[in-house]
Amino acid sequence: MNKTKVAFHTFGCQMNLYDTEVAQGLLANQGYEITSTMDDGAPDLRLPNETDVVIMNTCSVREHAEERVFGRLGMLGKAKKSKPEMIIGLMGCMVEEHREKLFRRFPQLDIMVGTRNIKELPALIDEVRRTRKRVSRIKQDGIGIEYTDLIQRQGGNHAWLPVMTGCNKVCTFCIVPITRGAEVSMTAREIYREAARLAGEGVTWITLLGQNVNSYDGAGPVAGVSGSNFPELLDMLCQIEGLKRISFTTSHPHDATEELYKVIARNPKISRRFHLPLQSGSDKVLKRMKRLHTFDEYAEKIRLMRELIPDISITTDIITGFCGETDEDHAASLRALELLRYDSAYIFRYSVRPGTPASKLADDVPITIKEKRNAELLGLQRQVTQENNQSLIGQTVEVFVEDTSSKNAAELVGITHQEKKVIFPGEKTLLGSFQKIRVEALKFETFTGSLT
Ligand code: SAH
Ligand code: F3S
Repeated sequence: MNKTKVAFHTFGCQMNLYDTEVAQGLLANQGYEITSTMDDGAPDLRLPNETDVVIMNTCSVREHAEERVFGRLGMLGKAKKSKPEMIIGLMGCMVEEHREKLFRRFPQLDIMVGTRNIKELPALIDEVRRTRKRVSRIKQDGIGIEYTDLIQRQGGNHAWLPVMTGCNKVCTFCIVPITRGAEVSMTAREIYREAARLAGEGVTWITLLGQNVNSYDGAGPVAGVSGSNFPELLDMLCQIEGLKRISFTTSHPHDATEELYKVIARNPKISRRFHLPLQSGSDKVLKRMKRLHTFDEYAEKIRLMRELIPDISITTDIITGFCGETDEDHAASLRALELLRYDSAYIFRYSVRPGTPASKLADDVPITIKEKRNAELLGLQRQVTQENNQSLIGQTVEVFVEDTSSKNAAELVGITHQEKKVIFPGEKTLLGSFQKIRVEALKFETFTGSLT
């Protein structure tokens, strides 16, 4: 008998990429065939003709992400006219946000599964195939993180490893506390076991995930090593021999502490890339956003981090055009980029998210101004990134040899401790080792170099 064919499309953050890998693994284990899997960066959704089920793993964090899913649902609705038996399902944050309302708006939709109920997806698809009735499972009782050795990982020797989910902060613009709920952490014991299992499978690089990862709060010691807060968890995971690199995302400035910097400084396995969203350079805006710090307090954290970890590469998120943002506030954000000299910054135009505290404030910065400020911030950051990158040329750096180049089999891809890519000629036998590379040139975002 032919297997039922499932296509996945994943929007949004790394947690969604992980959840998709879990869902795919669970379905494959039940005899489904995964025919295609795409993330947000992919161009248009092209479904193989024989697709029986399409699952979209969705994101609510900005309006634009939701609009893309709505557009895609429209396209799928048309496709379903010529293939009525096709099953369309949604998972992820939009399900938590809109719930069964989406059934009313989109008659083509068959399944909705909440972020804490992924395990039930195979049974829900079976149910729709049997009964041809729509089903939803959106409960708040699960934890929202599944560890399973059935997972279909996409990353080769890199793996995502969620350690906590949800958020107890109340940034007024943000919908995450609504869609992912309050913070829940896996225990240090569970995380250790999963990380060791991954290392046993040949995974050498893990990225610890959490919406607010550095407020991780696990319980209890493991094999004599404590792992109850985030720095301790990092320390503990560094002891797993097979793991060569440990990254994490995303951190909140409030929980970025000296203890954390010290743990990073003394563990060469921990990535030297630190993503620390600033959101705005203006104290007035930061206060309205309830970010829990002033610009100076944040800048002091960066100063201390750079002092304790001199080779750290810092990146950030900035929101432009938040409620009430004046020209002066915008100038403060530009100044922040100039002063702090991030290696890169994601700039987002503010969009109102229903149900958030900021949805009660006037979204009063006109779109044309948002666009203009966005372009100015992007332009400035591009220049700073370029200058920072240029300073790497001519230097010798250590890279972890990740892969062969997709463009040229005689070349290898190395990742620096700051997670920058360097392409260099080399033998496949070097895969999985650390090598010293002299950086020679920069093409777009990628460096080229040669073994020293
Ligand atoms: N700590 C979280 C943040 C999630 S949102 C995590 O990364 O898991 C990621 C980024 O999206 C935020 O840092 C913020 O810059 C941006 N963002 C969140 N809500 C937004 C909104 N309503 N409009 C525009 N950008 C937003
Ligand atoms: Fe969102 Fe702020 Fe939490 S950005 S995820 S509410 S730390």
